[in-house]
Amino acid sequence: MKELKIGVVGLGHRGRELGKIVATIDGVKLAAACDIRPHNWYQQQWLSNASMAEMFPDAAFYEDYDQMLDEADIDAIIVETGADIHAEFCIKALKKNVNVLTDIPVVASLKEAEDIWNAAKESKAMIYVGSNPNFGLLAYLIKDFYDKGLLGKPYCMEAEYIHWNLPGNEEDVHINENGDWRKLLVPIRYCTHSLGPLLTIVDSPLRKVSCFGTGMHAENAEEYKERKKDDMMCAQYQTESGAVIRIMRNGRCRAKIGHHNYRIFGTEGYFEKIERFGKSVFRYNSTKELDIELKEMPGGGMHPKYANNPKAVGHGGVDYAMLDNFCMALRGEPNESISLKDGLALTIPGIYAEESAKRGGEVITMRYPWEKDWTTKI
Ligand SMILES: NC(=O)c1ccc[n+]([C@@H]2O[C@H](COP(=O)([O-])OP(=O)(O)OC[C@H]3O[C@@H](n4cnc5c(N)ncnc54)[C@H](O)[C@@H]3O)[C@@H](O)[C@H]2O)c1
Repeated sequence: MKELKIGVVGLGHRGRELGKIVATIDGVKLAAACDIRPHNWYQQQWLSNASMAEMFPDAAFYEDYDQMLDEADIDAIIVETGADIHAEFCIKALKKNVNVLTDIPVVASLKEAEDIWNAAKESKAMIYVGSNPNFGLLAYLIKDFYDKGLLGKPYCMEAEYIHWNLPGNEEDVHINENGDWRKLLVPIRYCTHSLGPLLTIVDSPLRKVSCFGTGMHAENAEEYKERKKDDMMCAQYQTESGAVIRIMRNGRCRAKIGHHNYRIFGTEGYFEKIERFGKSVFRYNSTKELDIELKEMPGGGMHPKYANNPKAVGHGGVDYAMLDNFCMALRGEPNESISLKDGLALTIPGIYAEESAKRGGEVITMRYPWEKDWTTKI
């Protein structure tokens, strides 16, 4: 088996973490890394006993991304720069025929969506999307429930990703020490984690959106005035076939919770994942079963394929599963990596929702770069 040489750009908390995890996959080497902040490579960082340079003495470190792409001789790059600046790094790699795994949201504008779509079409390299919730137990269970016919046709769904931010909290300080995207990104643009698993069971694209935001109530609202970051945003989407999906996503959140919740109403059944006291509780019922009472699903944790794999770590193992699938894709083996098309389908709705909120909840029709009437204008 040929050794895969992987690079990472963006060595914040997540880039360092994914770099360490990918290096544990058989036949994979972390060969290069890049960040404009060299201390992230040379110095020991938060939640680590050693610097990346000490952990990976054979890897090359670059402060300049173009130089890395020219010199490092890597098979693929993992893009872990801030959440609103992925596209430029992906496009540069695609132009040099270097394979890409990009974190989500994939793009920050419709123009970027068009550019990355075209770059992927013209490149000899592959691009996949690091939508890690798609590799978890929830995604597996809802797809299985749907495929078995127990859900019927999903006609209404809701999901939320609500994560605390508390001033002065040590973790809050560390996760923001390399960039300010968490403070600045319009909350609904991070709809990606909620939409990812849900879009695997809808039969048509999200077509319309209306979104509202609460406005900003922070003490320093004046400082953020131009950025218009709402404390909470709620988007309602409708698929072309009429299903409704409601997504809630926070900016400010003083509740000490980190919830990824989902409820799915189908014509034959119901499925929910609700976080209770730090535990994910999965419950369902179906008219297709003899017992139609609401039941809790036994188990919990990982996708069955990775459940007994001691290497499966990172957000409960989904990060390892995602990287493992990416490496299988690079080797031409069967895999479940998320395509650019699917990644854009869960990213672009956040861009339209932001615009709808700016227009006071106006209903906007959404288009995608692979459609005939695609336009970068909203
Ligand atoms: N899917 C998940 O579970 C999950 C969780 C957390 C973060 N994320 C994603 O991971 C990504 C990174 O998150 P983070 O919290 O580590 O971000 P961060 O802002 O802490 O780190 C980003 C790093 O990129 C570097 N960088 C910026 N411009 C650069 C350039 N031109 N060249 C090289 N390096 C550059 C910065 O110096 C910084 O160290 C984000 O896209 C975020 O959406 C995903």
